Amino acid sequence: MSTYKIAPSILAADYANFEKELKRIEETGVKYVHIDIMDGQFVPNISFGAGVVASMRKHSKLVFDCHLMVVNPERYVDDFAQAGADIMTIHAEATTHVHGALQKIKAAGMKAGVVINPGTPLGAIEPVLNLVDQVLIMTVNPGFGGQAFIPECLEKVKLAARLREQRGLDYDIEVDGGVDNKTISACAQAGADVFVAGSYLFKDNLSARVETLKAAIND
Ligand code: DX5
Ligand code: ZN
Repeated sequence: MSTYKIAPSILAADYANFEKELKRIEETGVKYVHIDIMDGQFVPNISFGAGVVASMRKHSKLVFDCHLMVVNPERYVDDFAQAGADIMTIHAEATTHVHGALQKIKAAGMKAGVVINPGTPLGAIEPVLNLVDQVLIMTVNPGFGGQAFIPECLEKVKLAARLREQRGLDYDIEVDGGVDNKTISACAQAGADVFVAGSYLFKDNLSARVETLKAAIND
């Protein structure tokens, strides 16, 4: 597949300084920023919504990789399109109509992503793989940063990579949760292309931490 991408998760950044944090991310040379939207219902935590994303857009040209942990995310497709989201990724568990919701995301001009929790089999999204630009395999139960990586989820990464090849599809495979310099190489070997990392990256020198992830992928 194509070259890999590191996607720093802004959930681990300073919420009072998004402009500064976006610049910090850009200075590392990465192309993506992962933006976690939590509604306090699909997951217990509440983060921020499309209004905040629209404000961030004024300060950054990074690819906005929006991960919606929101019940019935189809309600917010137009809001996120207008806010300047590039990729809108929705949970298969969060809507009765995942196929229709993905069509709506694409019709609104965004890239469409589908995501599954650790307890959801890949079969739940097999019928929509031909529709999506990105498949996100959660490697923790969503809701909070700083949780331990669940290695069993990598079987689904492998399966998603196999199906992509068998069917001639071209989605990116993303992993999210507990990704650090120790867990990332197994993700890469399983076939992931996009690596979300929050708490590991935002501890001290962001650029130096990004480099440790790149080095671990190439190991
Ligand atoms: C968890 C979020 C993640 C989170 C990852 O629900 O989807 O994007 O920021 O954080 P770490 O890298 O700390 O596990
Ligand atoms: Zn996320």
